[in-house]
Amino acid sequence: MSVHVRLAEPGDDEALVDVDDATWGPWSSPVERPDRATRSSFVDPDDDRTEHLVAVVDDAVVGYVGLRAVGPSPSHDHVLQISGFGVTPSAQGRGVGRALVEAALERARGRGARKVTLAVLGHNAVARRLYERCGFEVEGVLRAEYRLGGADVDDVLMARRLEQG
Ligand SMILES: CC(C)(COP(=O)(O)OP(=O)(O)OC[C@H]1O[C@@H](n2cnc3c(N)ncnc32)[C@H](O)[C@@H]1OP(=O)(O)O)[C@@H](O)C(=O)NCCC(=O)NCCS
Repeated sequence: MSVHVRLAEPGDDEALVDVDDATWGPWSSPVERPDRATRSSFVDPDDDRTEHLVAVVDDAVVGYVGLRAVGPSPSHDHVLQISGFGVTPSAQGRGVGRALVEAALERARGRGARKVTLAVLGHNAVARRLYERCGFEVEGVLRAEYRLGGADVDDVLMARRLEQG
């Protein structure tokens, strides 16, 4: 299977909302899924802090990863954050997620970032393992940060350092 990763385009929105609908749940996000009618576009020309990369397999968009600048201060300019990540269930387990994270790291390096951060729920074992395989390390754990499905769930803060050539 060949996976092509590229920047999201306005025409991808419908497919990306489908990916979100299929992958959003209390195992992956601490907040309720936004209502389809009211959610903002994945490609917003007014937002120069956030961009999305999409994975295409057989001409179909099957996943995405978001990459956004963290803070308003220049002291934070070297950090980008992975924000939003999902692969449609029928395409999971075939390396698409890993291709997206690796492309996001390459993109971040190209934008001059020296560090990429993310937060992942403690019980999201598949995502945590994938991030570790991509070189992310745990930098902190917010214990019992969320109450989901009747259980206390940690928020795990991870980061990957990038070398700049
Ligand atoms: C996390 C997610 C994006 C991974 O996408 P993916 O395309 O399945 O990832 P990959 O195929 O690259 O697999 C990465 C690793 O997870 C493993 N994996 C994938 N799906 C799995 C599953 N259902 N059960 C167990 N392991 C699984 C793969 O075997 C692979 O492990 P390896 O590197 O040891 O071989 C996908 O599971 C998903 O959309 N989950 C719901 C949304 C989510 O949790 N987002 C992250 C929020 S922080």
